[in-house]
Amino acid sequence: MEDVKEEIKARLSVEDVVGQYIELKRAGRNMKGRSPWGVDRTPSFMVSPEKGIWHDFSANKGGDIFSFVMEVEGISFKEALEKLAAQAGVELAKYNGGDAKLAARKSRMREELELATRYYQVALTKNKSVCEYVFYKRNLNRATVKEFRIGYAPRAGRALTDFLTKKGYSKREMEDAGLLNQYGGGLFRGRMMVPFFDISGQIIGYTARVLDDSLPKYLNTPETLLFNKSRFIFGLYQAKEAIRRDGFVVIVEGNMDVISSHQAGVKQAVATSGTAMTEQHLKALSRLTTDVRLAYDGDDAGVRATERAINLAGGLGVNLSVISDYHGAKDPDELIQRGAELWQEAVSNYQPAVDWLLSKYEEKLDLLSAQGKKEYSSVAMKVISYLSDPVERKHYEQKVAERLDVSVEDLRLKKIDTGQPRRLKAVKAGGVNADKVKVIEDALLSIMLFGGEAGAGIEFPVPEDEVRLNELSMIFENKYAKMSVSEIKKEVDELLRLHKKEEKAAEVAKLTEQLAEVEDDDEKTREILRKIQKLQKT
Ligand code: UTP
Ligand code: MN
Repeated sequence: MEDVKEEIKARLSVEDVVGQYIELKRAGRNMKGRSPWGVDRTPSFMVSPEKGIWHDFSANKGGDIFSFVMEVEGISFKEALEKLAAQAGVELAKYNGGDAKLAARKSRMREELELATRYYQVALTKNKSVCEYVFYKRNLNRATVKEFRIGYAPRAGRALTDFLTKKGYSKREMEDAGLLNQYGGGLFRGRMMVPFFDISGQIIGYTARVLDDSLPKYLNTPETLLFNKSRFIFGLYQAKEAIRRDGFVVIVEGNMDVISSHQAGVKQAVATSGTAMTEQHLKALSRLTTDVRLAYDGDDAGVRATERAINLAGGLGVNLSVISDYHGAKDPDELIQRGAELWQEAVSNYQPAVDWLLSKYEEKLDLLSAQGKKEYSSVAMKVISYLSDPVERKHYEQKVAERLDVSVEDLRLKKIDTGQPRRLKAVKAGGVNADKVKVIEDALLSIMLFGGEAGAGIEFPVPEDEVRLNELSMIFENKYAKMSVSEIKKEVDELLRLHKKEEKAAEVAKLTEQLAEVEDDDEKTREILRKIQKLQKT
């Protein structure tokens, strides 16, 4: 790994890499520019060509070319390495021996998907009714269709597979790339093809829409070596420059909303494609900007998605807000069809996500009734518990308390019921705990089997395995053979106490893991929290 890093650094200068993103001017031995993150009034970004490093005095970070690309693109080290290796003309496969095969497979998949995309693009131009759908019904213009490389998958199930076969790709390779259905024919048929771009602009998959009202409306590429849906952010490749430049990102629900938004001049729009937002999504975006604006629907699903995002944002230092005024339109795309300027206005008309969520609950519940107050304070305190900043938390506690005409102290009493953060760090049920439990159990078993009277109060199943029995007798010899009965009895009491404690801890850990799994189910969450509290009380 160090070898390949050094090789790349030897070939790429820090000023060239950084210079692709920021305008740099000589300043003595160093070079200076404006921070890609901060709102610096004077250039606060420094590059030292001699040392091969950069430092950003306004954002307080720095490093080498790899960390720079990671930060500025919001990508992982591995992705940055791949990107810079490509720029430097360094073949990564040569360095990571075992991974060479995998790297080769991936790179062939990329070529395959590039060919497929071109095929779909050509097929679009040849089909009049599809052009009508794309250009007139969806109102996309030529530049947009070209930029997003929108195409069409013909109805015939063999159209693409025949083409790729001719180009030398095997069925196995087509399957790897996620292009086949379970019967070995083309997965996408008679659909508008919208490619998924990775951060460097290469195609890794598709979302494919029917041209009428049939179902399913969208088909997406399954998980492949290249496409991971819990990481993938639709539109990020096209949006990242604008996000960085203007310092905010707009997250919309649908992929077509992203495309429409870009065409309407709001190029900061992205979507989490066909899946709820994950921590990985938000983390990647938070590297580009901390101003994250959600443009979800105002329906129940939108409320839940927003709550989830607030939960995720808590630990990431992200300022989450909500764009909610669509003038009655169903989604951003529909609003844009009425007028691009309406959407442009909407994105600069946002409010903090917590305020928005609280007002949603206020609309839904009757805050004059006891039941309404109880429910409102429960959901409100839950949301507030997600916030990591104590001052911000206090601010909302006060707000909620005022709204209900109770004291903040009364409100805090509720916390016991509902305010537990859901994202408790899960203690693995195996691991360290399990080791401890085994030591305790072995000691108790050895006394039960070989300690005579001292082991009378211990009730464990007797192991049948001979090796195990020998092991336990050895443990007894080593630890307890020289002790008196009363000394051993004292030891037993202590061991039993510890054993109970560890069992409880393991149970809590297991429940905590379950908590992460039921994330969106309030009923179950409450039930599990109740169990945890009960365990902790005994
Ligand atoms: P919507 O049904 O709101 O889609 O689903 P949309 O973007 O408004 O689509 P149009 O305007 O009718 O073309 C939002 C998102 O949910 C996912 C897609 O990612 C879509 O963009 N989805 C929806 C699917 O993955 N499959 C589906 O069948 C439907
Ligand atoms: Mn839509």
